[in-house]
Amino acid sequence: MTDSELKQRHAQSSTSTNGDAATKTSARQSARVSSSSRGNRRAWWAIVARIVVTLLGLSVCMSYLITETAFWGYSSKWTNWRNYVPRQQRVFTQLELSQHDGSNANLPLLLAIEGDVYDVSSGWGFYGPGSSYSLFAGRDASRAFGTNCLSRSDHLTHDTRGLSEKELAGIKSWHHYFDNHQQYVKIGVVQLSPIDPAAPIPPPCEDAKPRPK
Ligand code: HEM
Repeated sequence: MTDSELKQRHAQSSTSTNGDAATKTSARQSARVSSSSRGNRRAWWAIVARIVVTLLGLSVCMSYLITETAFWGYSSKWTNWRNYVPRQQRVFTQLELSQHDGSNANLPLLLAIEGDVYDVSSGWGFYGPGSSYSLFAGRDASRAFGTNCLSRSDHLTHDTRGLSEKELAGIKSWHHYFDNHQQYVKIGVVQLSPIDPAAPIPPPCEDAKPRPK
């Protein structure tokens, strides 16, 4: 290797060493800048969160003072803390569900509609033993929700064959009611026995009472 070649190599290696150092320094600087901007962003979010929580707290206090409710009279399933507790949905057999009809006061009071099971314990006055709607407890009586028939036991079934569009819409509307109720919580589903297509369709209810608006 000639002298001039050697010098050239030295020059190249020193340039690349200087270049590496410069690259490292600028990388360090940009890491510092991005970590400080991340810190700033976090601080901003903390301030915003604190303001939101304070305003929410003030609103709840004012609402309690004025309306005696937490959210200015608004109530739905979203104002029930139980709906924010993640829970595993249970799969009931019809026999298991039937044990939740209020005859055992130690068990939650349950009813089902279109296969979804709701805990209606807070509606004991409606569904508990001896009350007006106790026949809905411990079972899926979707048909009766559609036909408004409270007097015939063959309407206390999940068999919805032969129902009119209006009656089916009635069932949907009740399902929506339970799903959005402030106190009732969906806790699972019920495995419904298949309907035998050869079984007779329950006859219409003579004394079906339309639910008052
Ligand atoms: C003459 C007819 C009827 C009258 C006068 C009547 C009256 C009432 C009244 C006053 C309530 C309490 C409402 C409340 O406090 O929010 C109620 C609740 C209820 N009604 Fe009727 N009702 C009638 C027919 C029916 C029929 C045919 C059904 C069946 C689909 C039905 C299903 C229910 C249910 C499930 C509840 C309880 C709602 C809950 O859990 O919050 N009602 N009814």
